[in-house]
Amino acid sequence: MFNALVLDKAREFSASVREVDDAFLPEGDVTIEVAWSTLNYKDALAITNRSPIVRSWPMVAGIDGAGAVVQSSSPLWRAGDVVLLNGFGVGETHKGCLAQRARLKGEWLVRLPPAFSPRQAMAIGTAGYTAMLCVLALERHGLKPGQGDVLVTGATGGVGSIAVALLSALGHRVVAATGKASEHEFLRGLGAADIIDRAELSAPGKPLQKERWAAVVDAVGSHTLANACAQTRYGGAVTACGLAQGMDLPATVAPFILRGISLLGVDSVMAPMSLREQAWARLARDLDVRKLEAITSEIPLSSAIEQAQRLMAGQVRGRLVVDTAA
Ligand SMILES: NC(=O)c1ccc[n+]([C@@H]2O[C@H](COP(=O)([O-])OP(=O)(O)OC[C@H]3O[C@@H](n4cnc5c(N)ncnc54)[C@H](OP(=O)(O)O)[C@@H]3O)[C@@H](O)[C@H]2O)c1
Repeated sequence: MFNALVLDKAREFSASVREVDDAFLPEGDVTIEVAWSTLNYKDALAITNRSPIVRSWPMVAGIDGAGAVVQSSSPLWRAGDVVLLNGFGVGETHKGCLAQRARLKGEWLVRLPPAFSPRQAMAIGTAGYTAMLCVLALERHGLKPGQGDVLVTGATGGVGSIAVALLSALGHRVVAATGKASEHEFLRGLGAADIIDRAELSAPGKPLQKERWAAVVDAVGSHTLANACAQTRYGGAVTACGLAQGMDLPATVAPFILRGISLLGVDSVMAPMSLREQAWARLARDLDVRKLEAITSEIPLSSAIEQAQRLMAGQVRGRLVVDTAA
């Protein structure tokens, strides 16, 4: 028997941490003992039933996990290998990793980079790996340090805080947009050179505004993303990866056709393995693990439901790493 955060919809929606056994595990060729998991925005949406994330019931929540392989019929993995998992529909259509045990597909797994412990990999989680996917997309566009200010929205969130840490470590001048007036010191500690109130970006704005940003990492969507595009300098790029303000994009084509800016979409869930491995290798090289520790709060699996509600209420700073044994 082992503990899992089970979401069900037998009659009404329910979420509970309870004991299940191996018969509850789904199909798959690799079984892992999940030592650490994490709470991402998407996990919180699923656990609080705020959005139709889960598409098969009952579900075990948890889009991320890290731990050791205990059983494998996959040619890729052997018992004892230490691996991590991000996305691929896990926690949505395939039972997930907010549990002490998970059965997964070998081709979904990434070998744990030697630079990180399983706990650190989950402190990074999908949020941090997505932040790195945004950095890689901007670099493919041609962004280099010294080209100008880089805006990060949702800056105290999971994606945002790791994006601030990564971009500043790479030598960019980072401007962090946040709604949390109490967290300016935290953001400066991560490397933000300047901080703006997110209210400057969240209301409807003009199609073209003063050119401010060489590049943008946006985790917020809606008017914030529209304004970020309207403020991006000629030829600059904006990565869109999130919807914390909203799914809508109330923008015009003006920044694209008059300033040649690029809007780069970033998806972590179905990203190909080569890109995942590149992102994790770059995280190992570029992310300061002391900053990661400052971003991370540890919670027990037994409190994950309550913490998901806090995350949805915008009360969480940085990343929540989940100890599945507690
Ligand atoms: N594309 C992908 O594959 C992918 C992967 C990971 C995450 N995401 C998405 O990226 C977004 C961020 O994820 P996360 O894990 O970083 O979530 P998070 O930790 O909850 O961070 C979101 C941050 O956005 C800001 N925010 C919240 N509500 C807002 C609002 N109404 N208006 C403006 N800003 C608001 C807050 O930052 P401040 O308080 O500092 O303003 C909050 O901390 C989510 O929408 C998530 O679904 C997408």
